[in-house]
Amino acid sequence: MVRFDPDTLPYYNPEFERKVAIVTGGNSGIGWYTVLHLYMHGFTVYIFGRNSNRVNKATNEITTEAKRRYISLNAKIKKDGTPNIENRYMGNINYIHADLADLKSVEHACKKFIKLEHQLDVLINNAAVMALPYEITKDGFELQMQTDYISHFLLTMRLLPLLKRTNGRLINLSSLGHILELWYWPMNQTWNFKPNMIFTWFRYAMAKTALIQFTKMISIKNPDILCLSIHPGLMMNTNLFSYWTRLPIVGIFFWALFQIVSYFFGVSNEEGSLATIRCALSEDLCYESDNGKYFSTGGVESRPSYVANNLDDAASTWIWTIHQLRDRGFEI
Ligand SMILES: NC(=O)c1ccc[n+]([C@@H]2O[C@H](COP(=O)([O-])OP(=O)(O)OC[C@H]3O[C@@H](n4cnc5c(N)ncnc54)[C@H](OP(=O)(O)O)[C@@H]3O)[C@@H](O)[C@H]2O)c1
Repeated sequence: MVRFDPDTLPYYNPEFERKVAIVTGGNSGIGWYTVLHLYMHGFTVYIFGRNSNRVNKATNEITTEAKRRYISLNAKIKKDGTPNIENRYMGNINYIHADLADLKSVEHACKKFIKLEHQLDVLINNAAVMALPYEITKDGFELQMQTDYISHFLLTMRLLPLLKRTNGRLINLSSLGHILELWYWPMNQTWNFKPNMIFTWFRYAMAKTALIQFTKMISIKNPDILCLSIHPGLMMNTNLFSYWTRLPIVGIFFWALFQIVSYFFGVSNEEGSLATIRCALSEDLCYESDNGKYFSTGGVESRPSYVANNLDDAASTWIWTIHQLRDRGFEI
């Protein structure tokens, strides 16, 4: 299912051409592979995560895996004398604490990043929760809406000056699940109804539609940065599904169901990261003609739902978000 080879993307030597990226939730699932590839392409990567143990463990695993791949590539080259890897340098990986369920934590993480860095080449809003029971955060938002969309909105707006300085790229991880929003639902609709098993998907769809709308709006307002949204594919073995597979008794049923879906429609976690990697690094993408576009599995250009594509709805979502953040003391 791999649609392109990440080896065809540019490699940077951090000594001469420093590149900086942020990956939210880079410690697991497809975020893990996204960090791995950026690191192997010479990027200084910041993982914005909520748990230092998990991020440190992932960082150790990623650096070990990168070394292993480098050694095996070297051995292959010695054997068949093919490509040249002299121009490949590892970057480095750092951690900044950011709990997306807490706007103050997001603001604090941005301030910390701005103190450390003057540039941001790629911002990947990857973290998410999916299909959880109804819950309101301490900021007063539905949990999925805040984690997946609103906190990423705040984070992006705070880091926008740094992205603009480098003519950087913004990549928002949406999902095919956004198509469940069949018509534009008012943003304060929280779908707090039973059964959760159905209405939780509506909440997820709203958050992921909002992310696509956000991508479109910010690309129009800032044509000097490249803003893209993505459906990465179906990866049923990431932690995104763990709430359902860990349920007592019925969890086994969900696990089996997800394995079947994965067998027919799924891709590996690494394949799931390829759309993000392509959008982050490919020199084929053009600021004039590709800005605001939506890509799916493997980095193939695709079309989001009618609702996600509608600019009037996107503008309404944008205005709603600015007002909601302002009401909570976060001026955009
Ligand atoms: N898997 C799929 O089939 C699929 C399909 C379509 C779209 N996607 C999208 O792809 C992206 C990556 O998903 P994945 O499958 O790789 O999921 P995953 O393995 O569960 O990764 C999600 C990441 O988000 C982080 N996160 C969750 N809540 C957070 C919070 N409050 N603050 C900070 N970080 C938080 C998690 O951190 P912890 O480790 O600390 O929990 C984890 O690192 C998501 O945007 C998802 O919606 C996935």
